[in-house]
Amino acid sequence: MSKNYKISIIKGDGIGPEIIDEAIKVLDIVSSCCGFTLEYEEYLMGGIAIDTVGKPLPQETIDGVLNSDACLFGAIGGAKWDTLPRELRPESGLLKFRETMGVYANLRPAVIYDELINASSLKPEIIEGVDIMVVRELIGGIYFGNPRGNNGQKAYNTMVYTKDEILRIGKKAFEIAISRDKRVCSVDKANVLEVSQLWRDTMTELSASYPEVELTHMYVDNAAMQLVRNPKQFDVIVTGNIFGDILSDTASMVVGSIGLLPSASTGEKTAIYEPIHGSAPDITGLGIANPIATIQSAVMMLRYSLGEEEAANMIETSIKKVLKEGYRTQDIAVFDAKHIVSTSEMGDIISSFIGK
Ligand SMILES: NC(=O)c1ccc[n+]([C@@H]2O[C@H](COP(=O)([O-])OP(=O)(O)OC[C@H]3O[C@@H](n4cnc5c(N)ncnc54)[C@H](O)[C@@H]3O)[C@@H](O)[C@H]2O)c1
Repeated sequence: MSKNYKISIIKGDGIGPEIIDEAIKVLDIVSSCCGFTLEYEEYLMGGIAIDTVGKPLPQETIDGVLNSDACLFGAIGGAKWDTLPRELRPESGLLKFRETMGVYANLRPAVIYDELINASSLKPEIIEGVDIMVVRELIGGIYFGNPRGNNGQKAYNTMVYTKDEILRIGKKAFEIAISRDKRVCSVDKANVLEVSQLWRDTMTELSASYPEVELTHMYVDNAAMQLVRNPKQFDVIVTGNIFGDILSDTASMVVGSIGLLPSASTGEKTAIYEPIHGSAPDITGLGIANPIATIQSAVMMLRYSLGEEEAANMIETSIKKVLKEGYRTQDIAVFDAKHIVSTSEMGDIISSFIGK
């Protein structure tokens, strides 16, 4: 009997529905090639949930995701909801969602495609061979800390990490490094912030349990500079919520476009797979969004949550062939693009190259 997996789908707002539809298109083809089935159940979150049921994170969405084998997520947010009180906005729903799901480790690979070396704003010799894994702590730090507030004259947020939270994400980073080049760079701001000093001391203490892995520390301002100056020096970068958010966007431009970078958010209960970008309101509905980050997120889902390695490899091979043939969405189209294609055409072409 063929295996069947339950996948919860959250399309969200802006380009979310456009890019998720392309990932589903590709998943349907690859699953039929590899002899398993995927059963999708769609749930609301973000602005569309506010418009439909009056809140950004319905309980039905939480229950549905917890009852599925994995969740594929698009993006949420948009100007339409930016004037709502903060706790009612789409972004609050997303933070609450991640916290409720306990997905503390956000894995963001930034790997250069040889075919896209010219799409980066950096010189080919600087980016050739870049293969970085950013391990970002996702449910702590300044996005979640209390007290927080804004009375119109004074506003404040709190960056807080406990030792246990740092140990938990640190272990994840060291374990990932063991299967890679065995180097972890821990990024903080220990020269200024107490919370970063605890982060640094804890990482140093933890490294004693992983003698095969080399640990280095870097201040976040230097890390931002080094990512652009010499990205090849990095293997695994482990860092807190806000620093990881910013550094992984920097890493995305190193490899060409934010439309290429997938992510996996994992914890003990479930895993959520989503592109690192947002809902891109400036290009919504134009049919030009790059679906590759979302399709690559589906690849991570096949590999990490479903154990369907063959299917994951087939999609990756297809994406490489499509890029090699010169198909590009606008964000990665440079002088070597042979065919500039729309979002749905990119999904069609990747699907058609599967198994070829
Ligand atoms: N996980 C999420 O759902 C998430 C993450 C970040 C931002 N947001 C929300 O998204 C909204 C827009 O935020 P933003 O503009 O700062 O960030 P964004 O990532 O949506 O867009 C930044 C830039 O990258 C481009 N871009 C993004 N994805 C692309 C793709 N697949 N193909 C081609 N170009 C792409 C956009 O057109 C834009 O110019 C906000 O409401 C924000 O809160 C949501």
